[in-house]
Amino acid sequence: MTGRQRFLGTLHRDPAVEGHPVWLMRQAGRFLPEYRELRSRHSFMELVHNPALCTEAALQPLRRFDLDATIVFSDILVIPDALGMGLSFTPGDGPRLANPLREQRQLERPLGSLDYVYEAVAQLRGAAPGHALLGFAGAPWTLYCYMVDGEGGEFPLARQSIRADELRARAMLDRLADLVAHHLLAQLRAGADAVQVFDTWAGRLDADTYARLVTPGLERIADRLAEHDTILFLRGADQLSRRVGKARFTGVSVDAGADLSAVRRELPGWVTQGNVASEVMLGGDIEGAVRGVFEATGGARDHVYNLGHGVVPATPPESVARFVNAVRALP
Ligand code: CP3
Repeated sequence: MTGRQRFLGTLHRDPAVEGHPVWLMRQAGRFLPEYRELRSRHSFMELVHNPALCTEAALQPLRRFDLDATIVFSDILVIPDALGMGLSFTPGDGPRLANPLREQRQLERPLGSLDYVYEAVAQLRGAAPGHALLGFAGAPWTLYCYMVDGEGGEFPLARQSIRADELRARAMLDRLADLVAHHLLAQLRAGADAVQVFDTWAGRLDADTYARLVTPGLERIADRLAEHDTILFLRGADQLSRRVGKARFTGVSVDAGADLSAVRRELPGWVTQGNVASEVMLGGDIEGAVRGVFEATGGARDHVYNLGHGVVPATPPESVARFVNAVRALP
C-alpha cells in the first residue's frame, strides 16, 4: 500500500487501510541541512516562485523519511501578494506586507497570476506519485490578520477592525473565502489530492466572535469544495471545534493544546489530525507522545498523525525519523 493510498483511504474511512498515515506540517524547511543549503543560494520568495525549486524543497523530506503525504512548497501569503500588497520576508523578522488592507476595494482588484503555484503542484504530482499531495491556503481570518496588520504578532489592528464594523468585516471575510476557494480548486485541478486550510490565528478571537464572523466564510469554502477532501487546521481548537461543526470539511487538524478526544466527540464524522506538541521533537518523549495520541483516539483508524503546528527549525532530523517510526510501530 502506498502512502497516498494510506492517507486518502484514511480520509475516506476505507477499512482496507493498513497502518496509520503520517506527515508533518512544515516538513520542508529550515530543520533540514539540505533546505538551508538551497536557501543559501535563493531567497524564500525565489524558491516559492520557481516550480522546479519548490519541487526540490518538497522532495527533500520524502528522501529522508517514510512519510505518506507531501504538501506543495508555497506560502499562505501568496494571495495577499497577488492582490498587490507587496510581500517580503525579512530574515528573523517574518513576513511583511508593504500595502496593508485598509479598504474593501483592495480586495476587488484583479488577482495577479498564481500559476507558479499550480505549476509547482503539477510538477510535484509527477515527482511524488506514491505520496498523497496536499495543496493549501490560509483561512480568511488568518489572511485578514496579516493583511490588516501587515506583519505577524498580536494583530491588534485586525482584531479591532473586525469588531468596529462587523458588516464590513463579514464582507471582507466573504470575499477572502471566495479567493481562497478559487485558489484551492485550482490546486486540485493541477493535481492535488486534498487541500488544507490553515487558520493559524483562530485562537486570537473569542469563540462567539469566531462563530459569528469567521465560521460563515469557512462554511462557504467547504461548500465550494464539497466534492473534495479538505482539512481545516484550527489552532485553538479546544474552544472552537463546536463553532465549526456545520462547515463540511473532511477533517480537522488540532494543535497540542486541544483535548483530542473531546474534539472527536464534538465533531462526529470528522477525521482528525495532529495534536503532538512540536516541542516534543526537541528531546522529548516522542514515542510516548505518539502513543498518547493513539490512546486518546482509542486506536481509531480515522486519525492522521502529525504535529499540532509546524516542525520548528531547531528540530533534529533524527526526531522526525523517530516520530515516523513510532507511528509505523502502532498496532
Ligand atoms: O512543508 C511545508 O509545510 C512547507 C510549505 C509551507 C510554508 N508555509 C513554507 C514556508 C506551508 C504549508 C506554510 C504555511 C504558512 N505560512 C502558515 C500556516 C501554517 C503555520 O505555520 O501556522 C503561515 C502562518 C505562514 C506565513 C509565514 N511564512 C510565516 C509567519 C513565515 C515566517 C516564519 C517562519 O517560520 O520563518 C513564513 C515563512 C516560511 N514559509 C518558511 C517556509 C519554509 C521559512 C522561510 C525561510 O526559509 O526563511
